[in-house]
Amino acid sequence: MELLRVQTIAHESKDTTIPAMFVRSETEQPGTTTVKGVKLEVPIIDFSNPNEEKVQNEIMEASQKWGMFQIVNHEIPNDVIKKLQSVGKEFFELPQEEKEIYAKPVGSESIEGYGTNLQKEVNGKKGWVDHLFHIIWPLSSINYRVWPKNPPSYREVNEEYGKYLRGVADTLFKSMSIGLGLEEHELKEAAGGDDMIYRLKINYYPPCPCPDLVLGVPAHTDMSYLTILVPNEVQGLQASRDGQWYDVKYVPNALVIHIGDQIEILSNGNYKAVLHRTTVNKDETRMSWPVFIEPKEDHEVGPHPKLINQDNPPKYKTKKYKDYAYCKLNKIPQ
Ligand code: SIN
Ligand code: FE2
Repeated sequence: MELLRVQTIAHESKDTTIPAMFVRSETEQPGTTTVKGVKLEVPIIDFSNPNEEKVQNEIMEASQKWGMFQIVNHEIPNDVIKKLQSVGKEFFELPQEEKEIYAKPVGSESIEGYGTNLQKEVNGKKGWVDHLFHIIWPLSSINYRVWPKNPPSYREVNEEYGKYLRGVADTLFKSMSIGLGLEEHELKEAAGGDDMIYRLKINYYPPCPCPDLVLGVPAHTDMSYLTILVPNEVQGLQASRDGQWYDVKYVPNALVIHIGDQIEILSNGNYKAVLHRTTVNKDETRMSWPVFIEPKEDHEVGPHPKLINQDNPPKYKTKKYKDYAYCKLNKIPQ
């Protein structure tokens, strides 16, 4: 079966019409459901001295009140991020047949590889986005066959980014652990320690003649513990705040952090997963590089035992991550 990629559809819809399967219902269309003229200023946290109490408090507050924040002056050198972006862009700009070498087989269980539309949407609509998924850590979970061979530096660049990213993740886990009143190592330990999976996704949102009618990725919270994301400079990330949708301000060189469902669960609701979605642009290609930090599939996640007592009963069930994921992807209540 020939799969139609959004990149191909975008290329062919230079005029003003797009296939109906991309057109959102009125309640979802970004043109009418976005609060105009304001950029949401989610907390911007300076990571020059991330172990300072002040910074740890900022992380705690942002995780409780926003579920999303951006960090600047972090330890990932700008040129490492630039290279990550340029090799990803080069991959998506390869001829279609070269990308298809990495395509997920239809009906495959694995989510790794190049593809379109992972999310099963209830209303049958499609997001204006193609993607590439592959694990970047731990080494034992990496399948290098789904890593692009072209451009040739793809592997080295992604490995280097992954190394720095783990440092940032460790710092975040420490601060978030302290913010819950736990010892600094306890949150990461409960999350699976060094067995946690780092899964990179590249989102490729081609220009769209009708950006007011479509979504890139529809409203969702991430299933991960945490997501650490690098966007390109094209505006597109939106977050829900008090029931309204806002553009999240693009901050050059910042890393965007999303609290995901698993940290919400582990913290027994103290930290909140953020509801977000993406829009697309009329003239420019938007790209983003989220890394989802997830439990291994058999790892059980539930409220941390030290956070539970008579006054604080568990608000979430404890279950294996694969069971959580199955319910979420199939819209079965948890
Ligand atoms: C996503 O949340 O899946 C994508 C976020 C983004 O592209 O900024
Ligand atoms: Fe997301």
